[in-house]
Parts: sequence; structure tokens; C-alpha cells
Amino acid sequence: MVMNEDMMDAIEKDNVVFLSTCADDIPNVVPIGFARPIDSETILLVDNYMKKTRENLNKNPHASLVVRDASKCPYQFKGTVEIYTSGEFFDDAVDWATSVMSKLSPKAAIIFKVKEIYSVQPGPDAGNLVD
Ligand SMILES: Cc1cc2nc3c(=O)[nH]c(=O)nc-3n(C[C@H](O)[C@H](O)[C@H](O)COP(=O)(O)O)c2cc1C
Repeated sequence: MVMNEDMMDAIEKDNVVFLSTCADDIPNVVPIGFARPIDSETILLVDNYMKKTRENLNKNPHASLVVRDASKCPYQFKGTVEIYTSGEFFDDAVDWATSVMSKLSPKAAIIFKVKEIYSVQPGPDAGNLVD
């Protein structure tokens, strides 16, 4: 499943995505501002302040996200993450975050690989896998 241009544009332009993770029995959701697509199957998230999110992802790499303004991008993205604390993805995350806010000191680049996309559009297709 790949993101189309409209989905990628919405993730790029909306200031915040909501990222949901779960390791045990209690789901955790956080707003994340540093989120942008790097190709049609991949979203870069920057870990600046993650705590429970990182604990969860360390135990369970599965995660879901929606954009803040889901009326403009009514999709739920499910995927798995890879966590980089050095290397090219990490360097890109540091460059991006510090270019926006120089005081930031990113801890990791979270590479979210999109595996499934579901509609959240109110109506008969809500909850359905997008084909
Ligand atoms: C508008 C907004 C944007 C945020 N963007 C980020 C971000 O890009 N990266 C990050 O690590 N935390 C960001 N945070 C902080 C996280 O939402 C959250 O506070 C942090 O992950 C700790 O929560 P946790 O213990 O549930 O992970 C942001 C918070 C707000 C309110």
C-alpha cells in the first residue's frame, strides 16, 4: 500500500500528526509536529521528546497515525517503525529539526513504513481498507 500525492501533501502540510503506539494493554497517542513523507511508503518522524512512545516502539514496532486535520486527509495509516540513532536518517532528522528550532536535540529518527491505509471518512467506507 502506497500513499498517493494528496496523502503525502496533507502529511507534509498539516502541522501535526497524531501517533498511536501500544506495547501492552494501554494505547498511547501523542501529537507529533516533525512528520513528513520521504517517499510514497515512508514517513520520517523526529523523536525530540518521546518517552512512552519510544518505550512502546522499542517493544512493539507497530504504530498508527492520522493527520490533525483528518477532514482534509481522512485516512488512518498503519505501519511499522525502524528507529535510527545515527546514520543518514538520523542526520536528516537533526538537520530538519534544528533548522526549525536550533535548541532541539533530536534523540532519534523514527522511520514509519506504511503497511496499510484505511478510510476514516464518515460514511459507508469508514474503516475500510483503501485499495
Ligand atoms: C504540537 C505538538 C507537537 C509535538 N511535536 C513533537 C515532535 O515532533 N517530536 C517529539 O518527539 N515530540 C513532539 N511533541 C511532544 C509529544 O507529543 C509528547 O509530549 C512526547 O512524545 C512525550 O509523550 P509520550 O511519553 O507519550 O511519548 C509535540 C507536542 C505537541 C503539543
